Amino acid sequence: MSVRDRLAEISEIGRDNVRGGYSRHLLEPAEVALRSWFRSSAEALGLSVEVDGNGNLWAWWGESRQGAVATGSHLDSVPGGGAFDGPLGVVSALEAVAILKADGWCPTRPIAVCAFAEEEGSRFGMPCLGSRLMVGEIAPEDALARVDRSGVTLEEAWRQAGLGVSTIGPDPDRLAGIDMFLELHVEQGLDLEDRGLPLAVGSAIMAHGRWRLSIVGEGNHAGTTPMQGRRDPVVALSSAALAVREIALERPAARGTIGRISVTPNGTNVIASRVDAWLDIRAHTDSEVRVQLDTTVALIQKRVAAEGCALEVHEESFSPLVLFDEPLTARIAGLLGGVPAIPTGAGHDAGVLSAYVPSAMIFVRNPTGVSHAPEEAAREEDCEVGAQGLAAVLRDLTGG
Ligand code: GLV
Ligand code: MN
Ligand code: MN
Ligand code: MN
Repeated sequence: MSVRDRLAEISEIGRDNVRGGYSRHLLEPAEVALRSWFRSSAEALGLSVEVDGNGNLWAWWGESRQGAVATGSHLDSVPGGGAFDGPLGVVSALEAVAILKADGWCPTRPIAVCAFAEEEGSRFGMPCLGSRLMVGEIAPEDALARVDRSGVTLEEAWRQAGLGVSTIGPDPDRLAGIDMFLELHVEQGLDLEDRGLPLAVGSAIMAHGRWRLSIVGEGNHAGTTPMQGRRDPVVALSSAALAVREIALERPAARGTIGRISVTPNGTNVIASRVDAWLDIRAHTDSEVRVQLDTTVALIQKRVAAEGCALEVHEESFSPLVLFDEPLTARIAGLLGGVPAIPTGAGHDAGVLSAYVPSAMIFVRNPTGVSHAPEEAAREEDCEVGAQGLAAVLRDLTGG
């Protein structure tokens, strides 16, 4: 097979006919279909597949569970996302195993292909849910109580999927059995396209976090309520969104985004009573994110108050700056022919794991530079180069 063939196998799963692209959310039918695809693809390669206590998928080459080189990514997407963010890393890992098996390679340590649950946090709001649970960064009870957009708790979704809820939580034995983690990922920018190169390794992930802003005003009739004296949280949100941009623009390399909004009650002829908006902030360092957040919230607070509304801010997640393991990254860059190391503003399971095991990333050129949108792209030949490169790296890391 090839990366192209493997991606073709899942190309109809989770297509979003309304938004375009793909919507593949944890334990919803499309994501469940991807889980079965993963199982059959891995079993066809002779790997033995298991679901861990946190809903992450593992496919093992070798009997031992110690000293493993793990590689993979995630199968879920953002709403209306692209075809590559996540699946490319899983597909490439499977293809790399296929390449090594076809060559008759005998690894001297186990290789695990993995797919982490809910990397995007699109259903239950917590990015890198599965990897964070595994390493113990989220309390099981907090995870189980999380609620999706339809009011279904993670616990209910878990039970409906036939997964045991008592197994959710830290998995130190599994973590201790992994010596290294590699995540191949589509690049989420134009750096490689600009450089004319198919691959890079990752040097760093910007610090980032998510905060829920709840703006409460006063619901009323759109026709009978005078314009003066309204307490309209949608108007307050509009000036809040401008504040996010103003502050981010003042700070070099900072990002500030409101990409998700929920309006209550969301009626055309109704002045809303409440708006919830999710604020995403990213910067080079943890403290820069904190300062940007504080400055942004202070300005939003003023503007919300000026509209007669009240503001509440709730931290949903925080992801500190990640610097990938330098020796491993340098070794991989060398094996790939001396490719550059580039930083990214996107979060990844490799970022979570990097605090516990040496971790590294390989990026594959994206000709549009777009990600988290249907226009996300990767050329077929670059994807094959990526899988060949990953196979070469696995061979090196699992040699005698
Ligand atoms: C996930 O891809 C993120 O960076 O938000
Ligand atoms: Mn993503
Ligand atoms: Mn991803
Ligand atoms: Mn991500």
